[in-house]
Amino acid sequence: MSVEKEFEKLFSLVKNCKDCDLWKNRQNPVLGEGSFNAKILFIGEAPGLNEDIQGRPFVGRAGKILDEMLESINLKRKDVYIANILKCRPPENRNPLKSEINSCTKYLDKQIEKIQPELIVTLGSFATSYIFEKFNIKFEKIGMIHGNIFNLNTIFGKQIVIPIYHPAVATYNPNAKEILLKDFHKIEEALHKK
Ligand code: URA
Ligand code: SF4
Repeated sequence: MSVEKEFEKLFSLVKNCKDCDLWKNRQNPVLGEGSFNAKILFIGEAPGLNEDIQGRPFVGRAGKILDEMLESINLKRKDVYIANILKCRPPENRNPLKSEINSCTKYLDKQIEKIQPELIVTLGSFATSYIFEKFNIKFEKIGMIHGNIFNLNTIFGKQIVIPIYHPAVATYNPNAKEILLKDFHKIEEALHKK
């Protein structure tokens, strides 16, 4: 099956998914967006209000910051793929529950398998701890490891993981933007080394 067809199938599965309670309040699930040939996969946490309304990832305030960061390393959304751990919005944007993550990450796993990115950038603690667990890397606090480059040997070959802070932190912490910008340059560095 072509990647396009795989993603169409995935989208219809997610649209009809009732595997955790979050389906009850969703207006639109958010599968993800971008290029299926992307070298970089960004993984956020979960849709917020604007994402739920539009069915697209990172279209609110955190999205504006993500766009700015991408631009700082000369990337556009269409060059990368952007997904989330959860595909439906948690009420009041509360943290994802372990049970919701367990129910939903089969979809993200499929996205990773089909896109086979060279580089996975995890945005925030939830995405980082999920990916670290999946690839058997010891997870320490995001504050200790953000901007570090982790090399993986997977069945698809070499992959890199770079954890960074969630862009939303820059909406309430003015110093965070500086750190995010620096970490985004690590992404550029890692790509050029390959
Ligand atoms: N925050 C996320 O983690 N994901 C989105 O899609 C939007 C905001
Ligand atoms: Fe299904 Fe994921 Fe939505 Fe829960 S969050 S209903 S598991 S698509």
